Amino acid sequence: MTREEMESKDNETLKDKITGMKRTYPSIQSVLMPALYAVEQSYGWLSQDAIQEVSNHTGVPAAEIKGVATFYSMYRHEPMGRHLVQLCTNVSCLIAGVEDLVKFLDKKYGLLPGGTTKDGRLSLCLMECIGACGNPPAMLVDGDAYDNLTCEAIEQILEKYE
Ligand code: FES
Repeated sequence: MTREEMESKDNETLKDKITGMKRTYPSIQSVLMPALYAVEQSYGWLSQDAIQEVSNHTGVPAAEIKGVATFYSMYRHEPMGRHLVQLCTNVSCLIAGVEDLVKFLDKKYGLLPGGTTKDGRLSLCLMECIGACGNPPAMLVDGDAYDNLTCEAIEQILEKYE
C-alpha cells in the first residue's frame, strides 16, 4: 500500500469515527473534543491541517475548533515523539525520588521535560498524580501504567517502545 493510499484510508477511518460521534452526541459542539482527540491520536498532534480536518467533517469553522483545542492543555499542540512518557511529579512520587528519574532521562536519552529525543522516539511530559501513589514513582508510556520505578526499570521498560 502506498503512503497516499494509507493516508486516504486513515482519512476515511477518521471520517467514519466522526460520523459515528455525530450520531451519538447530542450536539455538534459536543462532538468537537472527542473528534479532536481522534485526530490527535491519528496524527500525533493537532496541526492546523488536523484542525481543518475536524472542521471539514463537522462543518464547524476551523477558528472555533482551534479555540476549543487551545483552551485545553491536555491536547498536543506540538509534534511529538512516537511514544509519550508521562512522569508523575506529584508529592508521593517526589518523595520517592522522581527528580533522580528526570535527571536519568536527560542523561541517558537527552530527554528533557516538554522535549523529544533527537531520533523522534520519545517525548516527555511531567504531570500531576496518575493514581499510583501507593507505589511511587509512577509513569505512563503511551497510556500504559508503570510504578515502583527506578532508573534501571525505566531503561528496561523503554526498550519495549521502539
Ligand atoms: S503522586 Fe505520583 S502517582 Fe500519585
